[in-house]
Amino acid sequence: KRSVKAALLGLGTVGYGVYKVLRRQSPEMEQKLGTAVELKKILVRNLEKAAKKVEDSSVLTTDWQGILKDPEIEIVIELMGGMEPARTCILEAMKAGKHVVTANKDLLAADGKELMDTADSHHCDFFFEAAVAGGIPIIRPLKQCLAGNYISEVMGIINGTTNFILTKMTREGMEFADALALAQKLGYAEADPTADIEGLDAGRKVAILASIAFHSRVTFDDVYTEGITKISARDICYAKEMGYDIKLLGVARQTDSGIEARVHPMMIESAHPLASVNDSYNAVFVVGDAVGDTMFYGRGAGEMPTASAVVGDVFDIVRNLVHGTCGRIGCTCYRNLPVIAMDE
Ligand code: NDP
Ligand code: HSE
Repeated sequence: KRSVKAALLGLGTVGYGVYKVLRRQSPEMEQKLGTAVELKKILVRNLEKAAKKVEDSSVLTTDWQGILKDPEIEIVIELMGGMEPARTCILEAMKAGKHVVTANKDLLAADGKELMDTADSHHCDFFFEAAVAGGIPIIRPLKQCLAGNYISEVMGIINGTTNFILTKMTREGMEFADALALAQKLGYAEADPTADIEGLDAGRKVAILASIAFHSRVTFDDVYTEGITKISARDICYAKEMGYDIKLLGVARQTDSGIEARVHPMMIESAHPLASVNDSYNAVFVVGDAVGDTMFYGRGAGEMPTASAVVGDVFDIVRNLVHGTCGRIGCTCYRNLPVIAMDE
């Protein structure tokens, strides 16, 4: 039986989530895909610190070249974040013929085209579902399920940390700094939370969404960004009195004169569906000429929701590697579970 071997780069919030989900899903994966996925190596900076998290510390390494040169490792899952060494590792992995999964918005919003071109020219799968809106499927729907549409607009709440902070300030009267500290503790915030609260993280996601939805090259530099640091408890209170909530929204529109891409706080009517998107939840609206309005909703940040999206990408690569084990009726992994009769 074929066993697919993968390497994980980074064992932080998301990396550790992926480690746990892959272990938990291993028997299911074998059942669904006809093959096990083995995390052969985990790249870390501090072996001693990481050893406390894993069952078998022999998988830990600080040697990227060892991973790169290991022909058995077919999938590289990059979860270190930031530009370097993540960028070099991803490009080197692709050039060595390895498939890559990442959640790295910073890198995609700056160098997405180069990464995708490199993946194409080396015939590698390159998936990044977790890079936008954490656990919510949005990249694949835009690329595949909505491919028959002319998409005119993608907008929504795409940063969990700021939505969490605004929710806590609105509902519990919590101070900004306390709410941010809690978001950091819960693993929602970026390594440098300035990226969240100044709207940069949402700006990067807008660049990625706009590039995919409008088949264009939109980079982070093209996106107007304004964060929530100037929003006070008093602003929230006044907005509430007038029947509004304050939310940080990301907006990308395709107009006759070009693409509009921006992130800023907005007052939205409390009865609007986006006003009920609270805590670390995200919601993304997509407007297509055939489908009309669609909305995607779920947990936009945190260890397990983000790991869910990353492992989904790994599943897809493994499916491509082993061919044909796709869950369709008649396929070897189809389980034919009994359907429970429901009372009238
Ligand atoms: P963390 O900071 O929690 O984890 C990053 C990990 O990578 C750390 O453990 C760090 O090690 C390790 N690392 C950094 N550089 C190296 C290196 N050179 N070699 C080996 N290990 C290294 O970040 P997150 O897990 O939160 O985020 C990871 C990625 O996922 C980022 O790109 C982020 O934007 C993205 N993301 C995060 C989400 C979230 O909710 N947290 C949601 C969606 C995407 P050390 O512990 O020594 O610092
Ligand atoms: N820091 C990000 C957020 C993580 O709060 O939304 C998910 O991309």
